[in-house]
This record gives sequence, C-alpha cells and structure tokens, in this order.
Amino acid sequence: MSNRTRIGIIGGGLMGREVASALSRWFVLENFPVHAELTAVCDLAEKQREWFRRIPSVKLLTADYHELLASPDVDVVYVAVPHNMHETIYLDVLKAGKDLLAEKPFGIDLKAARAIADAAKSSGRFVRCSSEFPFLPGAQRAYQIAREGKLGKVLEIHSGFHHSSDLDPTKPANWKRQVKTCGEIGVMGDLGMHAVHVPFRLGWNPKRVYAQLQKIYHERPDGKGGMAACDTWDNAMLHTEVEIDGSEVPVRFEMKRLAPSETNTWFIEILGTDGGVKFSTKEPKTLWTFQRGKEQLWQKTDLGFNGPFPTITGGIFEPGFPDCFLQMWAAYIAERAGKLDGRFGCVTPEEAVRSHELFEAALKSQETKSSVTL
Ligand SMILES: NC(=O)c1ccc[n+]([C@@H]2O[C@H](COP(=O)([O-])OP(=O)(O)OC[C@H]3O[C@@H](n4cnc5c(N)ncnc54)[C@H](O)[C@@H]3O)[C@@H](O)[C@H]2O)c1
Repeated sequence: MSNRTRIGIIGGGLMGREVASALSRWFVLENFPVHAELTAVCDLAEKQREWFRRIPSVKLLTADYHELLASPDVDVVYVAVPHNMHETIYLDVLKAGKDLLAEKPFGIDLKAARAIADAAKSSGRFVRCSSEFPFLPGAQRAYQIAREGKLGKVLEIHSGFHHSSDLDPTKPANWKRQVKTCGEIGVMGDLGMHAVHVPFRLGWNPKRVYAQLQKIYHERPDGKGGMAACDTWDNAMLHTEVEIDGSEVPVRFEMKRLAPSETNTWFIEILGTDGGVKFSTKEPKTLWTFQRGKEQLWQKTDLGFNGPFPTITGGIFEPGFPDCFLQMWAAYIAERAGKLDGRFGCVTPEEAVRSHELFEAALKSQETKSSVTL
C-alpha cells in the first residue's frame, strides 16, 4: 500500500469541514507512516463547495458525487450527509472500489446498516464508522483501566453524550429533527454511536433494554417565517444489562439534545468494587479514578495531551475536539495500512450494526413500555 492516501469528502457541511481541518494539519503527527491529504470534495451546495477552495491539495470540486467516485485521485471517501442518504451513497462508494470512513449512524435504520455492513464485507473494502471522543486521552485511560480488569467486580457503567442547544425553542428546525431525514431513532442516531463505542469495544453488549424516550418540542421555526414539524426523539435513556465475568451489570446509555447547561459533553463512568474511573469532556485533561482502601477516595489526575498517536503538541497542553478528530483519522489511516499496532481503532461495521440493534430494541421498548431482549 502506498504511503500516500488521497481522501475525497462527500458532504462538505459541518463535519466535512472538520475533516478538511484535520487533514490540513496532518504534519503535526510525529513519525506517522502514511501521508493523508484531501484531494476532492462533493457538495450539492455551491457555497459549501467554494469554502474548500482555500485548501491547495483539493483538485476536484463537484456537485455530483459519482464524478468524485470516478476520480483516480481518490483512495478513501468520507461521507457526511443526512442519514436518509447514507445507504445509497455508502454502497456507491464501495461499488466504485473505494475505501470508506462512514459517518454515524451508518444508515438511517437497522436494515440499512445491515445492507452496508454486508456490502463492506463482500466488497473487501476497508470500512469504519466515525466516533472520535474515545480518542481523547481521558477516554483512552478509562478504556485501558477497564480492559486491564483493575476495578474488581464491575458494579455499573454510565456512558453518554449531552448537548443543550435545542433547549431554545426558537432554534430553527433542520434535517436532524425530522424522521424522514434523521430516522425513527432520532437522537440515538445522532449521539448514540458516541455512547456505545467504548462499552462495545470492551465486549459489553446489551442483552436487554428498557428505554425512556422523549419528544420535547414538536415544532420549530422553519427559517422561512413558518413552523416545521419536528417528530424525532430528542432525549433517550437506555437502561441495559450486559454480562461481565458471568454477572449481569447495568449499563445506562444517555443521549440528550436537551440537557441543561451542556454544550457538547461526552462522558463515561465505570464503577467497580475495587476501583472506578470517570472522564468527561467538561474537564478535557482530567481523569478521575476511585480507589477502595482503608479510606475511599476519588483521585484527580491531569493527563495533558497524550493521545494514541504522538503529535508535536506539548504534553502539558489541553486536548479538544479537533485533536480527537485528528486522532480518529490517524487511527483509520493506520489501521487501513496495517499499522494500528494494538492501538484503539474506529467503530467497525459489526459494532455499528449492533448499535442499530440496540436502538431498534429501544424503539420497541418505548412502544410497549417494557424491557426488550436483544
Ligand atoms: N462525528 C461527529 O461528531 C458528528 C457530528 C455531527 C454530525 N455527524 C454526522 O455527520 C453527517 C452529516 O452531518 P453534518 O452535521 O455535517 O450535516 P450538515 O447538514 O452540516 O452537512 C451535510 C452536507 O451534505 C450535503 N449534501 C446533502 N446531500 C448531498 C449529496 N447527495 N451529495 C453531496 N452533498 C450532499 C449538504 O449540502 C450539506 O452541506 C451525519 O451522518 C451526522 O450524523 C457526526
């Protein structure tokens, strides 16, 4: 495999630009074996496309994603479009013989996710799904502590993602607020992959779920002087059970668009009889660890900047969203080149399908007001 990887983006909106940002500072990665660069961008909107003109390596700007897929100057395609278009475009990427970094939720529903995962397998292409927060140093340490079994008997796990911009009822509706474009699973599709990535990677797969789903605002301004119906679930709490060392352990997954005071908070908390660990992006360099001794104490450690892939940034500096996004891309490119070397990898197609199985069971639980076995 060449040590140069050329990336094309389909969907140059919020996340497409974040990818351009990450790839544009690839040189900060130290001793990284592969050079990645952005060569092509597709978006339906001219204004979105024009923004990418500032990036010298971009040679193709197009409104037709088939043109991008036909380009010999693209090896990997990142797709960040509304959820109703995931399946068609992801399948076309694979048919064109390109590798894929898909955005979550990896299809609008379980059926779409299974079709994409099947195509990924039969095509032999390298396919992963986006979920960047686990690449922060605090999340990595929480994962390692849990993996090393240092917590004694695990008592409970709490993993989630909160934001609050939807508290404002005057915020205009967009495609993420409507079932036809976001999917029946609503906020679970928006935020759920972030919540399940670490627990799933630890092998903690829910066997049963009881879901509490809420629709809070049923309409919002449509941006044209009228009102638009908003029919997706806004907040979701999934009370689940997983098996750890032969015992059933409760895991609560929380995904909320209306969580007072939270701007974009990813968190995980794992408690055991001998120890515990918690990390939240509210304190981006801080790890809390619990130890049971003669006295029981929570200890606070400043972790600094250390992500799985070293960069030029000083070890005492604080990491943020663009940093974990770059680390996730480094993990994708390294794994594709066979150079992940035991480090934490991006969400696999199997994990993405499993997340949809959980979310579909959650919809059933909400409908029947009962727990559902997976
Ligand atoms: N990983 C994360 O943290 C994160 C955060 C937000 C969104 N997302 C995901 O990213 C995806 C996109 O979300 P977003 O917030 O960037 O949306 P967005 O609305 O900001 O951008 C989507 C872009 O896709 C373009 N588009 C739509 N149809 C297209 C087509 N057929 N061909 C080419 N371009 C097309 C639109 O013009 C728009 O510019 C979704 O799957 C979403 O769940 C991920």
